[in-house]
Amino acid sequence: MQMFENIPLAPLTTFGIGGPARFFVEAKSRSEVEEAVAFSGNKNLSLFILGGGSNLLVADSGWAGLVLKVAITGIDQRPGRNDESKVLFDVGAGEIWDRFVSHAVVAKCAGVECLSGIPGSVGGTPVQNVGAYGQEVSETIESVEVFDRRDGQVRELCKEACGFSYRASIFNTTERDRFIILRVTYALTPGGEPHLEYADLQRHFEGRETRPNLAETREAVRHIRARKGMLITPGDPDSQSAGSFFKNPVLSVAQHDDLRKRAAARGLSVPAYPALEKNKKVSAAWLIEHSGFARGYGFGHAGLSSKHALAIVNRGGATASEILALRDQIRHRVEELWGISLQTEPVMVGL
Ligand code: EPU
Repeated sequence: MQMFENIPLAPLTTFGIGGPARFFVEAKSRSEVEEAVAFSGNKNLSLFILGGGSNLLVADSGWAGLVLKVAITGIDQRPGRNDESKVLFDVGAGEIWDRFVSHAVVAKCAGVECLSGIPGSVGGTPVQNVGAYGQEVSETIESVEVFDRRDGQVRELCKEACGFSYRASIFNTTERDRFIILRVTYALTPGGEPHLEYADLQRHFEGRETRPNLAETREAVRHIRARKGMLITPGDPDSQSAGSFFKNPVLSVAQHDDLRKRAAARGLSVPAYPALEKNKKVSAAWLIEHSGFARGYGFGHAGLSSKHALAIVNRGGATASEILALRDQIRHRVEELWGISLQTEPVMVGL
């Protein structure tokens, strides 16, 4: 295990923001993870687990403790245990997520094709129950292998134990900081049909006579994401972000009524479509755009993506403080106009 000191974190994030890590280590195996945890314990350092860095905002002052990047790789395929109609994939937490999606699609296994083009590593996917275009990883995760910092044991958590809900799990709520994810087991459907529920995808394939296959669905998703600035594309300033900066608020019936009334008073109607309605969600991007923050808003280093109002982007040289100032401005105005408090999605590191 090689320990580094004062490593800049900005280049390890998609936002490209953040100061240095006092100590930094990349763990390529379970035993290196254990060694790194022991090092942080002995030196009394606070530990931050880094995956692909795609959903993080790191403080300008960086991280005063140890940053542990989990770099366990490998994709192993085996038959389903109890359900023979599934194939299991054991995927190292450090694998690049999109590499796994591509692998699954090439193997003609359905279940994650709509999650193409999402940046980051496999280990991060259960944490925030990654989802897009009608799929969520909670639908296909079979189990998660973790290192339990409480007792130093490695254990296998079944999907029910992970407590998944919209952009949440035990890993980012009740048991935050307790587990280090080492490997994720996905149960996919060999020969399965692609999931084409989401309106954007249906529009993309409109007029087609044959049903798209998994590979075409994957390409379609990447295409749609690129159009929204949600695919990391070198040279596209709109993709220097942490993806959606805010969650879509989940409203009660009373809150939803109140929102509709506020919208009607302004001659607007709140967009409604199945993917949101199913979960009583409302589009945060719509709320932001109707609070005076158009796509492309902002003048300094930090602004909104010109392709999607939900992404705050680093236009070059932005600091975490500038991002947070824009966040506060948006949250304040949305709350004032719509009575809704937007929750942020990225993990805040050292903030
Ligand atoms: N909209 C706007 N302005 C915009 C963009 C969208 O008003 O600039 C409205 C439109 O009414 C649009 C609706 O918002 O129809 C939904 O937009 P979109 O389909 O882009 O989805 P989203 O709800 O904004 C969510 C996820 C994304 C995921 C997409 C596609 C969250 C917070 N975000 O965005 O996930 O890719 O659906 O499924 O749930 C992420 O979490 O980082 C992320 C990119």
